[in-house]
Amino acid sequence: MAGIVVHGAQWGDEGKGKIVDLLTEKAGIIVRFHGGNNAGHTLVVGGEKTVLHLIPSGILHQSKRCVIGAGVVLDPEVFLQEVDKLAAKGVDMSPARLAVSLRTHVIMPYHKMLDAAREAAKAGAKIGTTGRGIGPCYEDKASRVGIRAGDFLDEELLAAKVAHAIKEKNALLAGLYGLEPLDPAKVLADLKPLAKRVAAYLADVPGMVQQALKSGEGVLFEGAQGTHLDIDHGTYPFVTSSSCLASNAAAGSGCSPRDMASVISVVKAYTTRVGSGPFPTELTCAHGDHLQSVGAEFGATTGRKRRCGWLDAVLLREAVRLNGTTGLAVTKLDVLGGLDKIKICTGYLYEGETILYPPQREGALAHVEPIYETMPGWKDDITGCRTWESLPEAARKYLLRVEELAGAPVSVISVGPDREQTIYKG
Ligand code: GDP
Ligand code: IMO
Ligand code: MG
Repeated sequence: MAGIVVHGAQWGDEGKGKIVDLLTEKAGIIVRFHGGNNAGHTLVVGGEKTVLHLIPSGILHQSKRCVIGAGVVLDPEVFLQEVDKLAAKGVDMSPARLAVSLRTHVIMPYHKMLDAAREAAKAGAKIGTTGRGIGPCYEDKASRVGIRAGDFLDEELLAAKVAHAIKEKNALLAGLYGLEPLDPAKVLADLKPLAKRVAAYLADVPGMVQQALKSGEGVLFEGAQGTHLDIDHGTYPFVTSSSCLASNAAAGSGCSPRDMASVISVVKAYTTRVGSGPFPTELTCAHGDHLQSVGAEFGATTGRKRRCGWLDAVLLREAVRLNGTTGLAVTKLDVLGGLDKIKICTGYLYEGETILYPPQREGALAHVEPIYETMPGWKDDITGCRTWESLPEAARKYLLRVEELAGAPVSVISVGPDREQTIYKG
């Protein structure tokens, strides 16, 4: 049992990248197990910022290996751009320390076109996707017509699969959405040089992960998005297209659930959401503006403004229950500094009753009324704090209340974006 899962407890952007970078020292291999370049994971080391979309957030630790599991959907162009960008910074991006599973599905141009066309065609309730082709790629995976990275090793098979897929996609693109049909020969010609480069990174990822677990080297499983964007247990249909739960770490990388020793649920000290969907604690007043501007809440992938609100302990409690959290990593605590009062949502009023977990019926979350508890804020700048004892009393009380409401202990506290701006709570 040498596996540590790091995943998001809210609607994404909780600061998973920073926490994965921090915990990388405990592992030999870091594996991304789902999602694609809809993710944007930010690392700040010595003041220098790196944003990763596909490559695991352990990559800056040059002695560690980073791998992309079968549960991920990979846009070859974005993957190679990221490889080149990191290599230009002096990071070793050789296949000796970076691998892609042969079973990873590939995001094709028609996936991105369909993502955009479907969103544009929706009259009212747009999901607000990242437009990266994530949903349509997972659809093809489930329909068993997807292109997988391993297909890059067989030109004939790749050509046949692409031709088959495009025949079907053109019926949609041209027939339904009035777009130019795609030419399979052109799509294949554009893909070939990318496929050749990606092929150099293909490896038996389950074998690598299992070997690392067996040897006790330690594996860190990096989740993307967040619990409430999960395809099954999130705020459907305003969700992403993969399972964002810790339980998918095993399936998405190719090992057993028995290999997971701990589950670190990353939670922002308040709540944010990008895209559409219900958000009970959303603040559309000056407090929301405060969180948005002090927290620099802009999407790391699309640059969109993130919606902001108070911490929702109902959603957090549900995340703890769904993921089996062993420790919470609370990030962006510094952003709450300067507020006179801080609110936490402890329950919901729903159909005349107080409930402690989100209602199960689709759309019901839009009709709950948050029940708040108000706590005193703190004025001090905490970005320089490095110990639990050095935090202002009000900040410590806030965290202790979060532990109590969530039903899980706080193990890590982040007080700034930099790797160094971290407190470990025993
Ligand atoms: P991820 O998708 O979960 O990895 O999170 P993002 O990288 O999309 O968004 C988190 C943002 O908050 C990034 O800009 C981080 O650099 C930043 N961040 C992380 N932890 C802290 C913190 O404790 N305080 C502050 N002020 N910023 C933080
Ligand atoms: P990280 O890993 C925040 C949101 C989109 C949209 C919905 C569906 O950085 O936390 P998609 O493109 O996946 O079909 O969009 O999911 N979304 C994210 N929100 N952080 C993310 O990733 C997200 N990835 C997808 O905004 O609402
Ligand atoms: Mg992000």
